[in-house]
Amino acid sequence: MGTLDGKVAIITGGGSGIGFAIAERFAREGAQVVLAGRRPQRLEEAAAKIGRGARGVPTDVGDEAQVKRLMDSVPQVDLLVTCAGGAVFGPVEDVPTEAWSDMFKSRLFGQLSAVRYAVPKMAPGSSIVLCSGVAGRSALTQYAGGAALCGGINAMGASLAVELAPKGIRVNVLSPGLTRDTAIDWGIPPEKLGAFMDGLVDRIPLRRSGTVHDMADAAFFLSTNAYATGQVLDIDGGWTAV
Ligand SMILES: NC(=O)c1ccc[n+]([C@@H]2O[C@H](COP(=O)([O-])OP(=O)(O)OC[C@H]3O[C@@H](n4cnc5c(N)ncnc54)[C@H](OP(=O)(O)O)[C@@H]3O)[C@@H](O)[C@H]2O)c1
Repeated sequence: MGTLDGKVAIITGGGSGIGFAIAERFAREGAQVVLAGRRPQRLEEAAAKIGRGARGVPTDVGDEAQVKRLMDSVPQVDLLVTCAGGAVFGPVEDVPTEAWSDMFKSRLFGQLSAVRYAVPKMAPGSSIVLCSGVAGRSALTQYAGGAALCGGINAMGASLAVELAPKGIRVNVLSPGLTRDTAIDWGIPPEKLGAFMDGLVDRIPLRRSGTVHDMADAAFFLSTNAYATGQVLDIDGGWTAV
């Protein structure tokens, strides 16, 4: 018997990295997981690796009609985790505003529309875990739009938690710190990536990056603790404590 037996879990961004680790963990606990991402082959491979009836639904979360179709593909949603999205880095005078805007479209509005179409399918006791990032609480240079986005997700989580509490739906935010072994494209030239990463690790009290399993543990906790709602959980090696 698993803790999540009989539960349907939708994991956006579940084809790789943090989302994949969460999907794998939920499936091991008995959930029927549905992975959403843009690349069908990535989803197929991820679902095959997870097994246990996992399946992928190709979805661009920046397209509301596709998000609706994703939610229409399941009879109910017990657990929603929204990890889809990427990052854009660069000096504020160089990054085109449109690049930040595209990031908001998938990573902020993508999470909002996932919630919008999942809520009608959620019974009391269901859980939503949004995904922000360390930049929402701690200044990260060359990431102005990302900082705004992460702070926005943290605020959105609190607002949704209060709004959805009368329906018995809990909403929390997982805020990852630097997490290794994911497919994320930092948008940094390869020759500069090492120094960039070293600079980030220098800011972390534990002096190392986290793993996708650290993030999956946190998502599992937020999804199953029946009294946790309206929280932002920083899993960042102490970065935001400094
Ligand atoms: N890694 C870190 O250090 C870190 C730190 C803080 C926050 N985060 C955030 O955590 C989340 C997961 O990141 P990760 O590191 O695990 O990276 P990842 O391995 O690249 O995972 C992101 C997933 O999102 C999917 N995706 C991207 N845009 C999408 C869209 N428009 N529609 C649907 N799916 C989309 C990608 O698949 P497709 O390309 O196939 O769509 C990919 O599978 C991201 O939001 C990231 O910004 C990461």
